[in-house]
Amino acid sequence: MTEKKIKITETVLRDAHQSLVATRMGTEDMLPILEKMDQVGFYSLECWGGATFDACLRFLKEDPWDRLRQIRDRVKNTKLQMLLRGQNLLGYRHYADDVVEYFVQKSIANGIDIIRVFDAFNDLRNLETSVRSIKKEGGEAQIALAYTTGAAYTTEYWVKIAREIENMGADSICIKDMAGILTPAYVPELVTALKETVSVPIQLHSHCTSGVAPITYLKGVEAGCDIIDTAMSPFAMGTSQPATEVMVETFRNSPYDTGLDQNLLAEIADYFRPIRDRFIADGRLDPKVLGVDVKTLLYQVPGGMLSNLVSQLKEQNASDRFYDVLAEIPSVRSDLGEPPLVTPSSQIVGTQAVLNVLMGERYKVMSKETKAVLHGEYGATMRPFNPEVQKKALGDEEPITCRPADLLKPELHKLSEELGAYKQQDEDVLSYALFPQVALDFFKERDARQHGIDPALCDRENKAYPV
Ligand code: CO
Repeated sequence: MTEKKIKITETVLRDAHQSLVATRMGTEDMLPILEKMDQVGFYSLECWGGATFDACLRFLKEDPWDRLRQIRDRVKNTKLQMLLRGQNLLGYRHYADDVVEYFVQKSIANGIDIIRVFDAFNDLRNLETSVRSIKKEGGEAQIALAYTTGAAYTTEYWVKIAREIENMGADSICIKDMAGILTPAYVPELVTALKETVSVPIQLHSHCTSGVAPITYLKGVEAGCDIIDTAMSPFAMGTSQPATEVMVETFRNSPYDTGLDQNLLAEIADYFRPIRDRFIADGRLDPKVLGVDVKTLLYQVPGGMLSNLVSQLKEQNASDRFYDVLAEIPSVRSDLGEPPLVTPSSQIVGTQAVLNVLMGERYKVMSKETKAVLHGEYGATMRPFNPEVQKKALGDEEPITCRPADLLKPELHKLSEELGAYKQQDEDVLSYALFPQVALDFFKERDARQHGIDPALCDRENKAYPV
């Protein structure tokens, strides 16, 4: 057997804390360890995008662009990676093409090398503009399949979509198993089929939610997968990724040896452990998300969604309805065309499930986002919507069937004008585009701080979680 080094994407700076502590790790907790992490030889550091952008502005009162620049300043050798939700960017609606193009341009200009881009419905039309922009700006475009199960999601389906992804110009493909439902028994079939179909590298991304992810990684690597996503042990397992050190040890002295230095990894783990303990001490790391819940194999709830549901229910004093909500999720998912559950579909389905359970009647209250999905504004799902629920949402209005962004007029100019004097850097218009009210509040506080007014506005102790 020929030697094949397995590459590692380290996620502690993004997905790991997004999945365990609702994305609350601040930049100051990251900076001191970056130079050491840069020496490890990771294939890439996932450090930006996903929910980090929102959490920076909304809860940590940090400028996400500044975080990226500070990371880039200290990481000279390792590629920096981000997660982008296609036409949704890092927000929760579809943006016009000019906003998408400008966002990608600025992400790469500020230090990102690899952009992992996906669409919650696997509607590839929603990725066209971002992929084109990534290539134009000289970035690496990794397109992710949002992995899910269900009658429609056969190996033939994944092979077909992988072929389309390669034809779109992807530099690599990621199997994005956000809920940790890809099993050791199925992964060899899937990876083998993809390797036979495409020539670009295959990366595996999973979560330990159901407990099987480390074994799935082993089987996936044996079947030919090239790169795996792992997290430093203090922020690993549970709803997060398998632990980096464990996977490095798993492949040591095998044909897939990563070649990474376990001593160096131990020093990095020593750094992150007290940070993890701080989150446990102040209650922001709920032990619920650290265990194994095999029920996720039934409910398909991704890591970030699970920790958000826990806090959403806690806020409503309805923690005891946790399992009722989990049980409602498959039914809502089915009504909405059986999409994969990943941001934003996970939030939409999750919030609607909470509404259905707490109101005591299905769709008595329908969120704006649920209505938008049923109107076709997020693109096409694999299966049709429940016609009754769609009728309830739309009345006599016709749903849309084109690429949703084709209906959006350019937005940048208008956004720029609205932002006016709050703008201190080009990137501010993008923060404003994604989260208008939150960004505006942040800009006002930034102004206040710069004028020496109340630094306590930096609200680090905020216990509220994003909904
Ligand atoms: Co993930």
